Amino acid sequence: MTSHFRSIAEAGTERIHRLLDLTDHMAAVGRRPNPKVPALRGKTVCNLFFEDSTRTRMSFDLAAKRLSADTMTLAVSSSSVNKGESLRDTVETLDAMGVDAFVVRHRTSGVPWQVAHWSPAAVINAGDGWHAHPTQALLDAYTIRQRRGMTNDFTGLKVAIVGDIRHSRVARSTTEILLMLGAEVTHVAPRTLLPPTSHVPTTANLDEVIDEVDVLYMLRMQRERMGAGIVPGGGEYSRRFALDERRASALRNDALLMHPGPINRGVEMMVDPTELSQSTILDQVTNGIAARMAVLFDLLGSGEIEE
Ligand code: NCD
Repeated sequence: MTSHFRSIAEAGTERIHRLLDLTDHMAAVGRRPNPKVPALRGKTVCNLFFEDSTRTRMSFDLAAKRLSADTMTLAVSSSSVNKGESLRDTVETLDAMGVDAFVVRHRTSGVPWQVAHWSPAAVINAGDGWHAHPTQALLDAYTIRQRRGMTNDFTGLKVAIVGDIRHSRVARSTTEILLMLGAEVTHVAPRTLLPPTSHVPTTANLDEVIDEVDVLYMLRMQRERMGAGIVPGGGEYSRRFALDERRASALRNDALLMHPGPINRGVEMMVDPTELSQSTILDQVTNGIAARMAVLFDLLGSGEIEE
């Protein structure tokens, strides 16, 4: 049976621990003068991105190349999808070229599971609708572990995820992995931006938690997934939920400030995060390559990384 990486729950605790350790190994490979290993020579990774992406698409591409795999990227804006070709025909056509793994991003939840019905290749979820973004969760958890010099046991770690939780696949997957590792997660958002049901504590008062947290995880407002009228208008959202100067100075010195990108400056971020020592935002980008190398190697590799 082919193995996939489509959600944190599907991967399970044992595999997540293994992937975090493997990410650490890949991060060390990335720091070498020659960051490339032959592990996936002869394998073909196909990036299928039906939704906009900068970081995720580029880092999957680079991750596959650093493992010496061949890569193909379907740019949907210039593909036959625009001539009415169905998702199924697109997948079957690419599969006939000999693909070992599909990396799939789509605006509809569940598409990575559908793709797995149409092709024997491994499927990696690079973001499906509001549902899941498991490689983001993996790189987030790894970034916390790395910056805090921790093991995979996050017991006692206090994390606040702030903003548009409702429409965020990042919030879903990152909450899932953090709970799996033992962290305490609080969701901070106006009621309209929380999911209808929640299995973690919630609050609409960021100031109540900001000086206590070990990790402050800010989210973008996913306007492309919203109906009208669910966000407080004007500057009201920013006044209550953005990271401004006052809140940045309330953050503990040893806290971490995270964001999956893209940042909307002037909406959730009123300060320049690159000037804050707590910011891990660019570490997250760097670690994204190592995390995706880990996932690709786990699915397609055999034997040793170096041989
Ligand atoms: C996120 C996404 O696309 O889900 N970005 C990312 O992958 N780093 C979050 C977002 O779009 O706000």
